[in-house]
Amino acid sequence: MNKIIYQKIKGTKDYYLKEGLKLKFVEKNLQIIAMNYFFKPIKFPVFEYQDLFKKTIGEATDIVNKEMYHFLDRKNRSIVLRPEGTASTMRLILENKLLDTDKNDLRFFYFESMFRYERPQKGRQREFLQFGIEYVNADSIYADYQILDLAIAILLKFEISDYCLELNSIGSLETRQNYLKDLKKYLLKINNQLSKDSQIRLQKNVLRILDTKDQNDLLLLKKAPKIIDYLNSNEKKNLALIENHLKMQNINYKINPFLVRGLDYYNDLVFEFVGLDKKSLGAQATIIGGGRYDFLINNLDRSKNAKAIGFALGVERLMLAANSYIEKNYLQSFSYSIIPISDKYYDDAYKIAQFLRNKGKNIYFNDNQQKFSKKLTQAIKSNFDFVIIIGKEIKNNKIILKDIKAKTEKEISIDKL
Ligand code: HAM
Repeated sequence: MNKIIYQKIKGTKDYYLKEGLKLKFVEKNLQIIAMNYFFKPIKFPVFEYQDLFKKTIGEATDIVNKEMYHFLDRKNRSIVLRPEGTASTMRLILENKLLDTDKNDLRFFYFESMFRYERPQKGRQREFLQFGIEYVNADSIYADYQILDLAIAILLKFEISDYCLELNSIGSLETRQNYLKDLKKYLLKINNQLSKDSQIRLQKNVLRILDTKDQNDLLLLKKAPKIIDYLNSNEKKNLALIENHLKMQNINYKINPFLVRGLDYYNDLVFEFVGLDKKSLGAQATIIGGGRYDFLINNLDRSKNAKAIGFALGVERLMLAANSYIEKNYLQSFSYSIIPISDKYYDDAYKIAQFLRNKGKNIYFNDNQQKFSKKLTQAIKSNFDFVIIIGKEIKNNKIILKDIKAKTEKEISIDKL
C-alpha cells in the first residue's frame, strides 16, 4: 500500500475550501479598512539580510536570538526569513528613497507571512500571517489617535468587543536610561532569585527582563521600579492625551507598566490589544501589538530622521477571535450551480454560465459525468444558494431557478436572472 510520505512542517498551516474563503474575506476587509484611513499596500521579499533584523529588532531579543529561520545562501550571505514587517518596511522606504519624494504619503499596510521558530500551540505558529500598518512621518499626536482608532475599527468590524487595550509609555532613550539604571540596581539585589534567562538578560539588555514569562520572575518584578514614574512632563502629557482620546470613545483600556514589547525599536507609546475570550483564543491572546518607533529610521541611516508608529495584527488570532462573525459573513454573494438536465443541454448551459459570470455572478458549472439527480443532490449538500436547471425551456430563453434555502422553484426568463 502507498503511504503518504509528505506532510507540512510543524507550526505551518494549509488553508483550503471554506478556510481559504474565510481567509480571503478577512484579507479583503482588512484592506478596505486600511484604505479608509488612506494607507497603501506594500509588498516586500520573504527573505532579507540577517543584519537588518539584528539592527532593528535588537540582538538581545528572543526573536533575533532564538527564533529566526537563518541560512547561508550559495555565496555565504547570512539570510533570514522575515520574522516581522516593520524592519522590511523601513528598509523599503530607505532603499527606494521614499523619504525624499513622498513626505506626506508614507502610510503603508501589508498582509504577509512571517516566520518565527516558536513552540507551536493554538494561535502560535512558525509561519503566521500578519496584517501590518506602518505610518511614517507621524509627527503629531493625531497619528497615535489614527493608529489606535484604525486598530479599534478592525476589531469593531469583526465584532470583537471582548478585549482590553493595554497601554504603556516607555519614554525617550534618555528616560529609559534613567529608568534602566534603577531597574538594574533593584534586580542586581535579587539576581540569584531570577530565572537563568533573566540573569543573562540582566547583563545584556535589562529591559527585556520585563518580557519574561517565568512566574517567579513576574512576582519579583511586581516590586520593581516602573517606567511610568520616570516619564518627563511631555511624555506624561502625550500619554494623558491618548488616555483621554480613548476615554471619550469608551474604549476598555488599562495602563500596564510592564508592557515593553518584545522588540527593541519602540519609544513612548506601546500597546497591545488582548482578547479576553480565552475559550476561542487559548493562551495566545494578543491580537494586535504595536507602538511608536521614532528612531528606527535614524538607526538604519544616520542621515535620515522620520518619526513613525504602527502595529501588526496576527491574522490567525483574529480569525479565532472573530470566528462567529466570519462564519456568518464570509460568503458575500450568492452562489449558483448550473446543471443541464441532460447531455443535450450542455452547450446551452455553458453559454448561460459564461453570460452570468460576465455579469459578475459566482457560477459553478457542473461538468461531472453524473446523472442530473446526483448533481442536484450534490449542489444541495454543497450549500449553493441557487441551482439553475437548463432543459427544454431554453428554447423560449427560459430556465428553472431553484432556491435551495427557500425550497422553491420557478421558471424564469434568462434576462430576469
Ligand atoms: P509582534 O508583537 O511581534 O509585533 O507581533 C504582532 C502580532 O503578530 C502579535 O500580537 C500576534 O497577534 C502576531 N504573532 C506574533 N507571533 C506570532 C506567532 N508565532 N504565531 C501567530 N501569531 C503571531 C511585531 O511584529 C511588530 N512588527 C508590530 C509593529 C508594527 N510595530 C510597529 N509596527
